[in-house]
Amino acid sequence: MKRISVLLVLLVLVLLSSSTKAINPVYKDKNSPVESRIKDLVSKMNLDEKILQLNQYTAGQNTNINNIGEAMKAIPAGIGSLIYFGADPVFRNAIQKKAMEESRLGIPILFGYDVIHGFRTVYPISLAQACSWDPALVTEAAAVAAKESKLSGVDWTFSPMIDVARDARWGRVSEGYGEDPYTNAVFGVATVKGYQGKKLSDQYSIAACLKHFVGYGESEGGRDYHYSDISMQSLWETYLPPYEACVKAGAATLMSSFNDISGVPGSANPYTLTEVLKKRWKHDGFVVSDWDAINQLMAQGVAADRKEAGYKAFMSGVEMDMTDNIYFQNFKALIAEKKIPMSKIDDAVSRILRVKFRLGLFDQPYTTIVDESTRYLQAESKTVAQKLAAESMVLLKNNAKTLPLTKSVQQIALIGPMAADKADLLGSWSAHGDEKDVESISEGLTTEFGSTTKINVAKGCDFDGNDESGFAEALSIAQKSDVVLVCLGEKRGWSGENASRSTIALPAIQEKLVLELLKSKKAIVLILSNGRPLELIRLEPLADAIIEIWQPGVAGGSALAGILSGRINPSGKLSITFPLTSGQIPIYYNMRQSARPYSGKYQDIPTEPLYWLGHGLSYTTFTYSDLKLSATKIKKTEKLTVEVEVSNTGDVNGTETVLWYIADPACSISRPMKELKFFEKKELAAGAKTTFKFEIDPTRDLSYVDANGKRFLEAGDYFVIVNKQKVKFEVAE
Ligand code: NOJ
Repeated sequence: MKRISVLLVLLVLVLLSSSTKAINPVYKDKNSPVESRIKDLVSKMNLDEKILQLNQYTAGQNTNINNIGEAMKAIPAGIGSLIYFGADPVFRNAIQKKAMEESRLGIPILFGYDVIHGFRTVYPISLAQACSWDPALVTEAAAVAAKESKLSGVDWTFSPMIDVARDARWGRVSEGYGEDPYTNAVFGVATVKGYQGKKLSDQYSIAACLKHFVGYGESEGGRDYHYSDISMQSLWETYLPPYEACVKAGAATLMSSFNDISGVPGSANPYTLTEVLKKRWKHDGFVVSDWDAINQLMAQGVAADRKEAGYKAFMSGVEMDMTDNIYFQNFKALIAEKKIPMSKIDDAVSRILRVKFRLGLFDQPYTTIVDESTRYLQAESKTVAQKLAAESMVLLKNNAKTLPLTKSVQQIALIGPMAADKADLLGSWSAHGDEKDVESISEGLTTEFGSTTKINVAKGCDFDGNDESGFAEALSIAQKSDVVLVCLGEKRGWSGENASRSTIALPAIQEKLVLELLKSKKAIVLILSNGRPLELIRLEPLADAIIEIWQPGVAGGSALAGILSGRINPSGKLSITFPLTSGQIPIYYNMRQSARPYSGKYQDIPTEPLYWLGHGLSYTTFTYSDLKLSATKIKKTEKLTVEVEVSNTGDVNGTETVLWYIADPACSISRPMKELKFFEKKELAAGAKTTFKFEIDPTRDLSYVDANGKRFLEAGDYFVIVNKQKVKFEVAE
């Protein structure tokens, strides 16, 4: 009897637990580990459901002219992801509801979008951000973007772009962090941290997407989508390091690139996508193709038709097809033909689901609805945008203390096509940025200088063309003013995707305007807003002062005005070299030494660029002294500290960034003349002195990488370089 009742109780328990499982399967149980949830869900999915997860379609109006595509009217409930061009969380929730309620298993859709430097509170372009040398502030800005995105229904951003770029003709130079692998790594990591927060499931975290994996910045001749000749050595030493750092920092996804790596396109490259990313770096998220990148494998000459293109991309390690519809159309056949194994499909689906689970989408698929007035442009968000704009502006030249403007300046001439412009200050990829939110230069100055100073504004000329009819008015304004601020630059569409230029000089009309204004004999201050380094060989000698403000976003006007008035002491330094002319391209600080350093010069121009990476002035002066090493000889396993005293020798407070470089003059692989390894930024009161330190870890800071990605550390002499000082030390076995 007793036995029977025990058995009955057990039976009831088994029945109860299996019925709860049926109602609430493991994948829906938020307390189950993510890996168990993935396994459970994949085991329940049929082939159609799996294939749909590997595809991304679009929803809403596509505003990128390079991505012309018919928006899918009927969005399948089981689709893996959507590029969401809208900003309306209600519409997004309606689509999500369809996925949750109409797909058999209720798998949420992942909504992605290009949030590159802000969603609505647009802050400076990435190239400018790196000139701030303030990764903590960049993290804050990315967190603002993440919050605005999340509240607008976007869970995933196609950012950061960490493509090292050394050809300023390439329009996408604006989207990355410049010419140096270390700088791209540091700012890439800072951005990933801002987007992804402490964990992906946090309320305002969104998933990052590192792009474009890998080597896109090498596009030949600076032409977008063009062939790129990348050796295995340059792949490992230049292009992969930022990706490795960001993958280690937990970046959830990557986007495969359009370019070639030693003849094999980045979107069909098993070496980079599988061997390096998945096997060596153990990345467990997924890779999405770039727009049309799978289809383009035919144009690139590695696939005969769409089916082969899809097969190659997928088998190389691209898990999600961005809008090409190739995976959707061909995978059933490829699986039936046993070309694609089910294990590979399951792995790809698991990777996509992993990101969705980690984002918490299964448990909280809907966007919380808050009013637009509390969603965007919050006071604290604007403060971050303004701080970053100010820190990223670079004072390139300041003869005879032209700046800051003194009290004796009673009338300012504000001239040029950028003077009252708003939209162009947003830069490329400005997401849902709206020009009406932007402070123009003219507005910034009016607020800053108030009623005491008169601001006389004239456009003078357009960004390009030949119309000089505004020159006379501009000159007359210059003549009656105490100083002439000339606001020149590039329209936002002149950089970004598919926006290459054969020359990085400004159009002749802008240069002519400055020549005309010289007739006023007033001090000329050039204010430059652009998305790439510029050729300033003719303009630089005409100017008393030059400020590079880049494309600073919504708060550029007040940031610049603060610098002009002296309320803000500029502290930005270039994250990319400014060639003297376009003919010097490529030129970057970490080039290798030439075989004849004393020879091989240009006959018609100097060989040096106008401004190297790291150039940037302040209203105060900093003196470096007492460069000291903790030891002159260390073993490979020992660390070494190097320090330098920096004094603020001027009469105003200022902020200095110390850039620490390493040089290894003799190595079995020839190395760049110097390599940036560390930087630090500190504020120093007028007259104050402080010590900057760099702790050298030989494995991290002195080692090099070979063409197979193998790190090695050689014994021998090394130099540490800071500012203009250099000191030698030895590493023994
Ligand atoms: C193409 C661009 O290359 C890429 O950076 C972007 O994320 C996608 N289009 C989606 O808009």
